[in-house]
Amino acid sequence: MTSELRDVINHWVFTPLSDDIISEFTQLVRPSRLWSLKSGSAPYLCLTHKQIPDDEKGYKLDLFCVPKHYEEDLDQVIIPHGLIMDRTERLARDIVRDMGGHHIVALCVLKGGYTFFADLLDYIKALNQNSDKSVPLTVDFIRLKSYCNDQSTNIVKVIGGDELSTLTGKDIVETGRTMETLLSLLSECNPKMVKVVSLLVKRTPRSSGYRPDYIGFEVPDLFLVGYALDYNEYFRDLSHICILNENAKEKYKV
Ligand code: IMP
Ligand code: MG
Repeated sequence: MTSELRDVINHWVFTPLSDDIISEFTQLVRPSRLWSLKSGSAPYLCLTHKQIPDDEKGYKLDLFCVPKHYEEDLDQVIIPHGLIMDRTERLARDIVRDMGGHHIVALCVLKGGYTFFADLLDYIKALNQNSDKSVPLTVDFIRLKSYCNDQSTNIVKVIGGDELSTLTGKDIVETGRTMETLLSLLSECNPKMVKVVSLLVKRTPRSSGYRPDYIGFEVPDLFLVGYALDYNEYFRDLSHICILNENAKEKYKV
């Protein structure tokens, strides 16, 4: 087994992989457990997360409850709240399995990560209360800001946060720049271990190649709102993850 393949298996590394590695890997793992996808020209392999395809139709808004004040602003629901919760429950189980015994300082990356963080910690707490393996937890918060309208400003502003972390809870990784900035900041504190869990990772050619350790869903290159993801601070009060329409981008532009 090559060391590249061992990395994939041991650490769920999620980087562009050569065709040779993919074929070596597919001989070891049942094809039904694999998704192979294209990002730019490089194929990726993924073992663990739900991939939402580019042609995902989503769900019509009127199938679910959406606040009246946002009805005109959204195209579809792409990830309903119940599905987010079900996936988060499984992420919690994977984390407790991997981290059992370690003390975790769970670091919430605000503002977009707050709902996911709270729900993830609730599931971890429930497992702690009901299983043999448990993870001692303390929490901390940091606020990062880099977006204006639907574009990255290229400047990642850090607001607050004074403790180091082993598990950081994040809303979405697009280019990966925000997370890379945070990781370099955290490395100055010499933590024993840092693991990143992000509910969403965007499939985009703008990606730096950075992949979190735990991923909820991989999503198309669209601007998404809801479940604390915002557009200029709007839409955090929406439970489902939805696609923002073009009118709304104008309406809430700053
Ligand atoms: P990155 O630095 O490009 O990885 O961007 C990460 C940050 O950009 C996230 O924490 C969000 O604040 C913001 N972001 C990126 N894509 C979206 C989106 O589709 N909706 C809302 N915020 C987003
Ligand atoms: Mg934002």
